[in-house]
Order: sequence, then C-alpha cells, then structure tokens
Amino acid sequence: MVKIQPFEVEQWMDRYELTPGVINIAETCAASLSIDDLVGMSVNQNEPGPLILSVKLTYGAIRGSQTLRQKVASLFDRASPVLIPVENVIITQGAIMANFLLFYTLIGPGDHVICVYPTYQQLYAVPKSLGAEVSLWKLKEEHGYIPDLQDLKRLAKPNTKMIVINNPNNPTGSTIPASVLKELIAFAEPRGIIVFSDEVYSPLYHSLPSDQEAPPSILALGYEKTVATGSMSKAFALAGIRLGWIASRDPSIIEAVSAARDYTTISVSQLDDQVAAYALSEPVLPSLLKRNEGLARTNLALLSAFVERYRSVCSWVKPTAGTTALIQFRKNGVPVDDPEFVVDVLDKTKVLFMPGSACFGLGKDLKGFVRIGYVCHTEVLGNGLHELGRYIEKHLL
Ligand SMILES: Cc1ncc(COP(=O)(O)O)c(C=O)c1O
Repeated sequence: MVKIQPFEVEQWMDRYELTPGVINIAETCAASLSIDDLVGMSVNQNEPGPLILSVKLTYGAIRGSQTLRQKVASLFDRASPVLIPVENVIITQGAIMANFLLFYTLIGPGDHVICVYPTYQQLYAVPKSLGAEVSLWKLKEEHGYIPDLQDLKRLAKPNTKMIVINNPNNPTGSTIPASVLKELIAFAEPRGIIVFSDEVYSPLYHSLPSDQEAPPSILALGYEKTVATGSMSKAFALAGIRLGWIASRDPSIIEAVSAARDYTTISVSQLDDQVAAYALSEPVLPSLLKRNEGLARTNLALLSAFVERYRSVCSWVKPTAGTTALIQFRKNGVPVDDPEFVVDVLDKTKVLFMPGSACFGLGKDLKGFVRIGYVCHTEVLGNGLHELGRYIEKHLL
C-alpha cells in the first residue's frame, strides 16, 4: 500500500466548508463563475455559448481538443513571448492530476527532489510517497517568502532530479521575480535538473510593486527541461470544470506523461474542454481576467486595512499575487494555537479559514499562522472580516 500523509488542507476544507451558514474566506479560487456569467462577459454577444449540444459525447480528443490546447499554449505567449507548440500541452483533470501525473511519471526511489516550502502539500508529499528523498527549500518571512538561491545550492545533491516551485505561491501569495527564476535556471541547466513550476495561480500578478513586472512562465526562460502546470480553477474562476494542463518545452517529458496518463484519464470530459476553450477565447478572456484581477485588488485593500487595524495582534507579508494570504495571530504577544483558533472562530462566528501549522507547516512550523483566501465575493470577505474583527476584540485584545 502507498504510504502517504493525509492531505491536510483538503481534509480541513472538506470537513468544514459545508458548515451551515459558513462565511468561507478559506477558498483559493477567484469567486467561481457560472456558464451564464461567462457568456455575459463575452464581447461577442451574438455568438452562441460554450456548449455545442449536437456533439456526440464520445471520449473526444485523447490529449484534449486541438482548440483548447492551442489556447493554453498561447497563454504562455501572453506575458512574455514563448512559443510552445500545441503538441507540448496535454489536458488533465485539474492541476492536481497534472501535478500527480508528472511526479508519477518522472520520480522514483533513488531520486532527490527539492521543493519550496510552505506550499501546496501535494508538491512534496507525492514525490516522497513515490520513494524519492525530498528536501524542503524554506521560504523565509524576512525575505518576503522569496526563495533564496544560496539555500538551494546547499540542498542540491548529485542525484537531484527535480526542483519544484509554485509561482505565485500558495499559501503566502508571494511572487518569484524573473531575476530569481533566471538564477534558478542558471543553476539547474548545467546539472540537467528538471525545473517544475506549479503556475496554477498565474496570471493573477495583481499587486506587484510598481517597479516590478509580472514574471514569465518557467517555460519562457530558454531551458528545455522545464515543466509548468496550470488550471482553470483559480485565476479563471472555473474549478467546477476540473480542467488543468501540463506543458513542457521537452517533448520527451510530454510523451512520457501521456503514456502514464493513459492509465488514469483516457480523456478529459468534452464538456469541460468546450467550456475551458470558450473561457480562454479572445472575446471572453480579457474580461474574465480583468474581473478577477479587479476583485483581487479590491479585496486585498480590504484585507490590508483589517491587518493594519489589528496590527497589535496580527502581522503578515502582504501578498503580491495569487489569491491567498498568510497571517499570524497572537494573544499577549504569543502566537495562537492556530488549529484551535480556526475551530473556535468557526464555532463562534461561522467564519472559515485554514490553520497554517496543520495545513502548510507539517505541524511544527507556522505556529499561529492562518491562510485566508481573499478573492471571494467582496461582500463575503467584508462580512468575514467584520465578524473576525468582533471576535478579535472580544478574545485577543
Ligand atoms: C498550488 C496548487 N496547485 C494545484 C492545485 C489544484 O488545483 P486544481 O486541481 O483545482 O486545478 C491547487 C489547489 O488549491 C493549488 O493550490
């Protein structure tokens, strides 16, 4: 039997997100959209919606439709020019399957994997469960949660096969700038190490300092052994279609992943494929991204005002991208017991967010931290912060 630790954040979400009356500020997707919402965003109102109802529901195109793969490939071209051939993109059931397949295909006993930390637990737990040795590349609060190349150099070994990053990062909301990505490639390339970037929150680089540009995808840096995964769930607000992708500059990686994928997927739903292709089409995509970036900026301003107001008991590194923020709460100067705090806040106020140490700190780091998903509807965030503020005034101040 596979030995794998429970996936804490998924289990915490599953346990509490359907609590009656919950005010959910734990969700990491930009507030989800319906098909009607999407159609309403199209600048081409005379065109039909996404679903072609006459198409027979066969398995469809095994690796994903040509139309969709082309649109995903052109996403990499939007931020900085990089031409990814359509053959180098395969569609998966969400980024969670993309990530899993990538590790399942490429990683095994005898391999060493370096993974940024904190991050989505899947990114270090799955390679470990496959028998690899995993070293955690710790993101430090004092460095704004940006990975430090000197630390990477200390972690690398002769058998390091893959370096895993997550840009923008969940849970910190930090961005790895282009300069650090370039240094990372300069380190990995001569050693032949695969660089894998989970870019599921890209392109939500909504609050970068004015002198900083959105970083390119890892695929845009000229190194063949790079892989990126992404999805419709977060920046595109469509988690319900369960649609993600793997893209690489290296065709042999794509072929190997496809061969493994035959055992888990056959194909992704044609309906999901059609909705995703519609959302990424020229008449819809700009309005969709504008809506989600706007929501992220408006809501981050609300969250910032909250952190400022209660700064005697909470602190953070303000996020620059993505949908999540990591905030530490203290009582009498001592970090709260975050799992207990989360359950007590939920009990007393119905406000839900995630405990940092349990979900992202392997139980020993991130004491007192919680992760808030702030790109929900502004009204939900407003209500959640109002209730949380009342709780703080009663129990922490
Ligand atoms: C970093 C990261 N990768 C992948 C996923 C999985 O996303 P999905 O399968 O919905 O595309 C998540 C979900 O929270 C995530 O935070």
